[in-house]
Amino acid sequence: MSTLNASLSNEQAQRDLAEASAPAAAPEKPAESVIEYGKTVGTPFSDDPKFTLRDVEVFYGDTQAIKGISLDIAKNEVIAFIGPSGCGKSTFLRCLNRMNDSIDICRVKGQLQLDGKDLYDPKNDVVELRARVGMVFQKPNPFPKSIYDNVAYGPRIHGLANRKSELDDIVENSLRKAGLWDEVKDRLDAPATGMSGGQQQRLCIARTIAVSPEVVLMDEPCSALDPIATARVEELIAELSQSYTIIIVTHSMQQAARVSHRTAYFHLGHLVEVNETNKVFTAPEHELTESYITGRFG
Ligand SMILES: Nc1ncnc2c1ncn2[C@@H]1O[C@H](COP(=O)(O)OP(=O)(O)OP(=O)(O)O)[C@@H](O)[C@H]1O
Ligand SMILES: [Mg+2]
Repeated sequence: MSTLNASLSNEQAQRDLAEASAPAAAPEKPAESVIEYGKTVGTPFSDDPKFTLRDVEVFYGDTQAIKGISLDIAKNEVIAFIGPSGCGKSTFLRCLNRMNDSIDICRVKGQLQLDGKDLYDPKNDVVELRARVGMVFQKPNPFPKSIYDNVAYGPRIHGLANRKSELDDIVENSLRKAGLWDEVKDRLDAPATGMSGGQQQRLCIARTIAVSPEVVLMDEPCSALDPIATARVEELIAELSQSYTIIIVTHSMQQAARVSHRTAYFHLGHLVEVNETNKVFTAPEHELTESYITGRFG
């Protein structure tokens, strides 16, 4: 009997604990009732845009995933995309180098410009576009080749080096910029798949920057990394932002706060708020942004 009482009071204690640590209740109004279609609060526009995006809508079949987003992304800025799972961050990111083209049922509408030119002009060479707008994925995806050949791959395809010594220089510089050179300089011929996860992710970043892109898109680049490897990638983002425009999707609000100049908050396919990162995390303008950053949902 006393054992039963003890276990009951233990259960009660666990329930009390769970209640005490449970996040506050979600806002009562349904989220869509406080979102105005196509309207973003804050500072979505820029005087010096790299990307000019207007009324962007994306559909998968009949389902609309992106709902009338207008946004400028400035030259040399680091902008973080945050928001609950499924709100359209990756879909919107993939519009920027036409990665959605490879999904049959996906249709992109609206005006999307890179340096004032239509990204979706059928005359554009998509391979060339993806060299200008490189992408780093959530899971490192090195080719089953040597470390050297992974980094040399893009420069070879795009004919960026005339001589072996030029290619060697590109490989070395890219690995240095990615903070990986010292760790791999003595084993450039070793298979990339034998590296640690964090090294593979930095290798993929080196591979992306080897073709001198103007923009780097990163979709949760640190989600598979430990804190040390994450810190290396974040240092790298700070360095790269001197010369590149960087757009990073992250589920870590701390990471967004550490690396980005502006933060964009997505919700149910809408772009709800864009502001200076500091403002988003200390004085968000929109009630949905506030609910998200205070942990009420997401
Ligand atoms: N290839 C696809 N085919 C059909 N629907 C898709 C496809 N990719 C995404 N979607 C849908 O589009 C919506 C947005 O998805 P998306 O992957 O862009 O969200 P996300 O914000 O990146 O989420 P997460 O944080 O989980 O990565 C979701 O409803 C998703 O189910
Ligand atoms: Mg995603």
